[in-house]
Amino acid sequence: MEFNGVKDKVVIVTGASRGIGRAMAEVFGENGMKVVCAARSEEQGKEVVASIESKGGDAIFVKTDCSKATEIKALVDKTVEHYGRLDGVVSNAGIGMGGTPLHEYEVEDYEKVFSLNSEGVFAGMKYGTEAILKSKSEGGFLINVASVAGLMPQSGQALYTATKFGVVGMTRAAAMDYAKYGITVNAICPGYTKTSIFGDAGDAAMDFFANDCPAGRMGDPRECAYLGLFLASDMARYITGAAIPVDGALSAGHKSVTTWKHPEILTGEGLSSESTIAAIMEDPKGLEIVRKFLPGFEENEQAKQAYGMTFKTLAPMLGLPEDVVGSMLSELDQL
Ligand SMILES: NC(=O)c1ccc[n+]([C@@H]2O[C@H](COP(=O)([O-])OP(=O)(O)OC[C@H]3O[C@@H](n4cnc5c(N)ncnc54)[C@H](O)[C@@H]3O)[C@@H](O)[C@H]2O)c1
Repeated sequence: MEFNGVKDKVVIVTGASRGIGRAMAEVFGENGMKVVCAARSEEQGKEVVASIESKGGDAIFVKTDCSKATEIKALVDKTVEHYGRLDGVVSNAGIGMGGTPLHEYEVEDYEKVFSLNSEGVFAGMKYGTEAILKSKSEGGFLINVASVAGLMPQSGQALYTATKFGVVGMTRAAAMDYAKYGITVNAICPGYTKTSIFGDAGDAAMDFFANDCPAGRMGDPRECAYLGLFLASDMARYITGAAIPVDGALSAGHKSVTTWKHPEILTGEGLSSESTIAAIMEDPKGLEIVRKFLPGFEENEQAKQAYGMTFKTLAPMLGLPEDVVGSMLSELDQL
């Protein structure tokens, strides 16, 4: 089956001027969809349209403040006026808000983050659905850009978390409303993704985010866009009511200390003093060296607890003379 299930579909992307929304608009344009780029900045929005057109795509810009339901309604109306139909809406526009305990937020903060991240998404779904139904789209879709914070609460982000849990909830409930009527409704839940949402967070903060993620790096906005493209396609007609993380396993669970028994699989090299004790003990030649330098080590129950370490880190703790440690390590390096 060729990937051809999106061509000529008319899609609205909110917050298309940068970040994930821009990537989504560009990927849709590259794949033959007609893209309505909604954003507040005319300059940036038109730049995205020009970039799509320069690659042979079809797009228009509609200036929209997505925190206002009336403007979202006008956006949908203008789309239908221009393209004559609507097949899908990506409600992506959103703001971050975080870093303080709940009591330090102001009521105005609540209104600000909910009006865009929650009410704006509701309006996109409501007016979008009406137009998609009227268009008799056979491949209609709503995609909401939620967050891993919609699956797993984030400390210091009570309000942002609440909006994103709300988006996931609306997504799943609406999926049931429209499952029989040919409109799929899904949420994309990005993890740490390199966009301007992080403002001027410095290198140290960005390193923290990368290291906090099991994948060891932040995501690229296009990695969310590719999922958006698939959900918009006719290949995903039976996927609805899902909240799908694009997060390098960030929301998969709680990280814990893990030591590879056989790290040499990554380098393609044999065992050495860099290998774990467990791997060395499994190798007959390694065992011979351990027996020579550390007689009784393999029978010692306490020593077995250290099998996830390397002899390099363990040897000084055992109080062995430096020359003995040195000889042992150099013999291990010849394995
Ligand atoms: N980047 C991440 O790590 C991350 C993680 C999880 C979820 N998200 C979500 O992804 C979505 C996109 O964020 P991003 O990372 O691309 O951030 P971004 O700041 O780069 O982009 C946000 C977009 O929303 C637009 N926007 C903001 N307020 C608007 C308004 N009132 N009306 C219209 N447009 C408005 C901005 O102009 C911009 O185009 C948001 O919903 C965000 O919560 C991002």
